[in-house]
Order: sequence, then structure tokens, then C-alpha cells
Amino acid sequence: MRSRTSAQPSQPATASPRKARAATPPGSASPALWTVALPSRAATESLGRIIGQSLTGGETLALSGELGAGKTALVRGIAIGLGMPANHVTSPTFVLIHEYEGRLPLIHVDLYRLRNVAEAEGIGLQEYFQGNIVTAIEWADKFPKLLPDDRLELTLQHHTATTRTARMMAYGPRACTLLTTLQQAARQRRRTAAPRSSPARATRKGRPRTS
Ligand SMILES: Nc1ncnc2c1ncn2[C@@H]1O[C@H](COP(=O)(O)OP(=O)(O)O)[C@@H](O)[C@H]1O
Ligand SMILES: [Mg+2]
Repeated sequence: MRSRTSAQPSQPATASPRKARAATPPGSASPALWTVALPSRAATESLGRIIGQSLTGGETLALSGELGAGKTALVRGIAIGLGMPANHVTSPTFVLIHEYEGRLPLIHVDLYRLRNVAEAEGIGLQEYFQGNIVTAIEWADKFPKLLPDDRLELTLQHHTATTRTARMMAYGPRACTLLTTLQQAARQRRRTAAPRSSPARATRKGRPRTS
């Protein structure tokens, strides 16, 4: 893993830039929506693993939710799903950007400490929106104009000490494809788990509950 605080990103893994235009204003498109209940940290990491396994390259994952909502926990699962070792991912709050190499390159960014768009532009975030690089951006809602049109927005809501909800909104074809794949993977998991589980086991902690 490499960490970076400067404005110069390392060479992108491939060419073929994705355009980073102004974000689609909410309401101007009809994003696909999926909400998942996360009854434990394990469930959040499990959702992340499913996301990591479903990524095909080039996706932008725009994460929002208050401190402690589980954004970093979700990214940990995504990294594991991309084949990185468990416990590899830490919060990039102070270093701003972590770069990981798994099945696909993963850039993990935290915008929490940035004060304005100029500072956010200064870290070179938009240069990562190209090729097969996957970007997972915590506090993405602070600077929506920096995000590409095509993105999966994941909003984590904090309910109790252990329960969270993930609301996923797909803007653009790449994100819609990802969301569809996630829903299919979750359905498949439920189907394969069903014969072995009693109804009581099916709702126990550790598995995301989907709607
Ligand atoms: N359902 C859950 N999903 C994610 N984290 C949870 C959950 N329940 C409890 N937690 C705890 O909440 C904290 C989330 O921290 P973190 O992922 O760093 O949040 P964020 O990055 O949003 O600030 C961790 O201490 C984790 O153990
Ligand atoms: Mg975090």
C-alpha cells in the first residue's frame, strides 16, 4: 500500500480517461436506488466484499455519512473483495489518499480535512478518474462538483451503536451495471444460503439484509 498527501498522483494504471464533469444534480436523472440494512460491522464489511468482487474497473464509489457511520469499514470490505489482505485498509483521514493494488487498482480517498474545492482539486483527485482505477471517496458529498457523472453514491446512516443502513444510488451506466450486479449477487447469496438456514438464522448478524 502507498499513501500520499501531495498533489501529484502516481501514473494511472491504464489510459482511456473517464471524463470528470460536474456531478449530475440530484433529481435531474433517475438514479437506480437500493437500500440495505447492515446489522453489524461484519455485515458492512460483507457488503463491501460483494462490491469488491463485483467491480469490473473504473468505478467511482462516492461514500458519505457522519463520522463513525462505517465508510472505512465498507472500504475495508471492498479491498478484501478485490483480493487484498484483511486489515490492510486504514483510514486515510490524515494522508488523504491510499493506493492499493489488488485485482484492480483501488484509490481510497478521505476528503474530511479539506476545506474548499481548491484544496480538493490540489490533491489531484480527478486524475484518478480514468482507466480501470476504482476510487472510493469518503466524504464525497463535500465536493460533489469534483465527482464524475458516472458514480455509485453510498450513503451510510448511523442508527444504533451497531446498526447502519446503506443507501446506494447509481448515476450513469457503469454505476447502474454495478448496482444490478450487486443485487444479483445478494439474491444469489440468499438463494444458496436458504436451504441451510432456518428463518431465524437467515436474519442473524453478519449478513447484509436487503430490500
Ligand atoms: N453496522 C456497522 N457497520 C460499520 N461499522 C460499524 C457497525 N457497527 C458498529 N460499527 C463500528 O463503527 C465504527 C465505524 O468506523 P469507520 O468505518 O471508521 O467510520 P467512518 O469511516 O464512517 O468514520 C467502527 O468502530 C465499527 O466497529
Ligand atoms: Mg473513515
